[in-house]
Amino acid sequence: MPSASFPPGFLWGSATAAYQIEGAAREDGRTPSIWDTFSHTPGRTENGDTGDVACDHYHRRAEDVALMAELNLSAYRFSVSWSRVQPTGRGPAVQRGLDFYRGLVDDLLDRGIAPSLTLYHWDLPQELEDAGGWPARDTAYRFAEYAQLVAEALGDRVEMWTTLNEPWCTAFLGYGSGVHAPGRTDPVAVLRAAHHLNLAHGLGTQALRAALPARARIGISLNPSAVRPLTQSAADADAARRIDALANRIFSGPLLHGAYPRDLLADTAELTDWSFVEPGDEATAHQRLDMLGINYYTPAVVSHAEDPGAPRSDGHGASEHSPWPAAESVAFHQPPGERTAMDWSIDPSGLYDLLVRYGREAPDTALYITENGAAYDDKPGADGAVHDPERIAYLHSHLAAVQRALEVGADVRGYFLWSLLDNFEWAYGYGKRFGAVHVDFDTQVRTPKSSARWYAEVARTGTLPEPAGLPEPAGQE
Ligand code: FCB
Repeated sequence: MPSASFPPGFLWGSATAAYQIEGAAREDGRTPSIWDTFSHTPGRTENGDTGDVACDHYHRRAEDVALMAELNLSAYRFSVSWSRVQPTGRGPAVQRGLDFYRGLVDDLLDRGIAPSLTLYHWDLPQELEDAGGWPARDTAYRFAEYAQLVAEALGDRVEMWTTLNEPWCTAFLGYGSGVHAPGRTDPVAVLRAAHHLNLAHGLGTQALRAALPARARIGISLNPSAVRPLTQSAADADAARRIDALANRIFSGPLLHGAYPRDLLADTAELTDWSFVEPGDEATAHQRLDMLGINYYTPAVVSHAEDPGAPRSDGHGASEHSPWPAAESVAFHQPPGERTAMDWSIDPSGLYDLLVRYGREAPDTALYITENGAAYDDKPGADGAVHDPERIAYLHSHLAAVQRALEVGADVRGYFLWSLLDNFEWAYGYGKRFGAVHVDFDTQVRTPKSSARWYAEVARTGTLPEPAGLPEPAGQE
């Protein structure tokens, strides 16, 4: 009989990102990041929403940490805003910026919540984009310098360090489809950016190891794609192989094995000869990984496209430009079944598959689910409470998938629910609510949803209740 309990010491966390929650965009020396520029450019985000105020977390830090304690969280994953601590992406650190994170970490530690710090969650200082951004090699060196500054300031009190969040999104959505900042649409820039992100991870890890105490654990958070072919045909299998290379092995190749996969280089040969990969770069990217973060929401179903001109969707926002270089022959499909408010299909088996795969591929690396969750159109009812039974069901089914992966030997050490708070969901603005805690963006009032209460019990007991223990769906308010 499978046990309903998670291993002792399993971390129960939630995750956020600086630009999505902090606000205070122009305070204490912070300068614009690419997301400030992008969100202030007409037409780039829903309703023209920006992160100027967001959840005002910069000023409500203490209240938010108290909320985490109320929800029994044992860990909290946050990101540092690069342009808050090193405004131009070069030179000395701004102490007032670092003070915010010192205070946050102290508040967390006071409450017994382990801080998990991500250095880069997509908000490149605008000046570095103006100098070429991630397609330019120098950005990787700038990142390593920034990593060192943050390590020197917080290394005495933070043990879990993540270099990059979802480099796939940075490269493919930021420089390919253009639905994320900086909004460029150049397939070669995508591949250059991906390489410089791998290099930045390697150089950044070296800088962190040099500056941090030996107890520090260093990793990266990827959003690997659980890719499935639509049919068993050889053509569909090849479409899945091609997307697996572009979504997954472009990162896991250098990071876990010290080399880019040959099929990726062959698939993209008409676009580039990859001469931007200099001798030694792949070895630099291949650093010891203490932790691998997996962010998972939904799988991808692909087929060979008979008609490359037909409309295609891959769930990452509307653009006439595909994020995928050299994949014109691939079509993306919506699997049948239930979907979240993002229109993402719900399929926990994708999480199971990824945990088992990376558990085998990186046997000496601890796995964490550094993001998982769902957006729904949550509104307070007449009683002021926010009932979100769909989110509870989503979390329950995905945590059950984590248990199944644990049972077959995947070394999973923690789970971070995306997200603590409803927040600025990038190009979708404030319309997509992923929070366990509802935020009224007019008043900044926080209201834990029923899912937050449910998750707090899971965190307190380390046990997943039987589905029968799920709260009743909300009544008709
Ligand atoms: C991930 C991002 C996170 C959030 C979720 C929904 O790709 O890392 O910031 O937007 O998706």
